[in-house]
Amino acid sequence: MKLTILGGGGFRVPLVYGALLGDHAEGRVTGVTLYDTDAGRLGAIAGVLAEQAAGVADAPVVRATTDLDEALRGADFVFSAIRVGGLAGRAADERVALAEGVLGQETVGAGGIAYGLRTVPVAVALARRIAELAPDAWVINFTNPAGLVTEAMARVLGERVVGICDSPVGLGRRVARLLGADPDEAWIDYVGLNHLGWLRGLRVAGRDELPRLLADTGALGSFEEGRLFGPEWLRSLGAIPNEYLHYYYFNREAVQAYRQAKQTRGAYLREQQAGFYADAVRSGGSALAAWRRTLADREATYMAANREAAGAGERDEDDLEPGGYEKVALALMRAVARDERTTLILNVRNGATLSVLDADAVVEVPCVVDANGAHPVSVAPLPYHAVGLVTAVKAVEREVMAAAASGSRAAAVKAFALHPLVDSVSVARRLLDGYVAEHPGLAYLARH
Ligand code: G6P
Ligand code: MN
Repeated sequence: MKLTILGGGGFRVPLVYGALLGDHAEGRVTGVTLYDTDAGRLGAIAGVLAEQAAGVADAPVVRATTDLDEALRGADFVFSAIRVGGLAGRAADERVALAEGVLGQETVGAGGIAYGLRTVPVAVALARRIAELAPDAWVINFTNPAGLVTEAMARVLGERVVGICDSPVGLGRRVARLLGADPDEAWIDYVGLNHLGWLRGLRVAGRDELPRLLADTGALGSFEEGRLFGPEWLRSLGAIPNEYLHYYYFNREAVQAYRQAKQTRGAYLREQQAGFYADAVRSGGSALAAWRRTLADREATYMAANREAAGAGERDEDDLEPGGYEKVALALMRAVARDERTTLILNVRNGATLSVLDADAVVEVPCVVDANGAHPVSVAPLPYHAVGLVTAVKAVEREVMAAAASGSRAAAVKAFALHPLVDSVSVARRLLDGYVAEHPGLAYLARH
């Protein structure tokens, strides 16, 4: 099998390659092509992968290229993990929003809309190229905002594109462990959109064990989401929300914490990553060691502002455990390539899963995966308050896609204005102006 990684110079590529190195079975990936627009980043990451592969006899062969067509030809799987505008773009997304007093986050609220408006046109162009040059390839989308980008790509690629995120997997694993269940055996009832979902139950042998956790204040205080939301609110909800719902349920505190932070997440990562890429190409030291140090630091500081706002303290070992992102990707590829049926929480077209959304809406739900692709299983309906958030945010995503397709400024303003975390149409207009001024990638919205 041949895997092509778009955004092959990206920081998380060694995680994926590390997972591939552990797969020795028939039908595994034997060749990896890294594609990136930045040759310097490609070189740095190729250096890390070479160190990872040392001593592994059947290590997948790595090739790096800045030629997209060459990268796509012959691919069985395409991973898309790009960052349009880079981390400087992410930092600008945060800055413009915070200046208006609203949340600037990579995937949620105004920041997520700006990032989506920049990314959708690029992702759609990539999808078209894939449809032309590798029409039988399966596409795994990691690119954030992952739900929106997957839906935009699905308009070109249909069911051949599947979006993934490690947040629901991490949540499921933490809750299963606390309940003494095997995360791979338990049935995890998780439903929503990407970064907007709820774990509503965890069944072992047909029995829902979640009420036992909700009743246990001590246990609730012992894991990431429990500390972020607090036992009382979790009991009120009767569910454990995805950590990204902290931006909704505690919006005022989150915005305040972002404003007070020494640096926003994007600004911090821009500096951290620039340091890593500069070190990695410098001769002498180990690029792999530098990568590992940088990764540990990145994981330890993840959502630090939210944890501070919630008084949640440091992350503990279980919260830091790696193996989410790349494990889902590998499990998905194995299930498809070898027809090994498995269940994974993925971003796929809704079909008839949630009756409040149309069939083409991409949702994040448990799916049965085999050689025919990923198919959502049926789930119980969402409660009204969750329906409200999910449908409101889906409406925003649709406006982003409309703006990206037509260049309509009115659609872009509507996307900002309809978001539950943007509190005025005037703010929405100023946000769009602010973003267009910052991002060359949004010039297409400046015209009409
Ligand atoms: C989580 C999210 C991803 C996000 C990642 C890194 O795993 O699900 O969508 O890319 O965190 O966040 P960071 O702030 O480190 O870039
Ligand atoms: Mn994610």
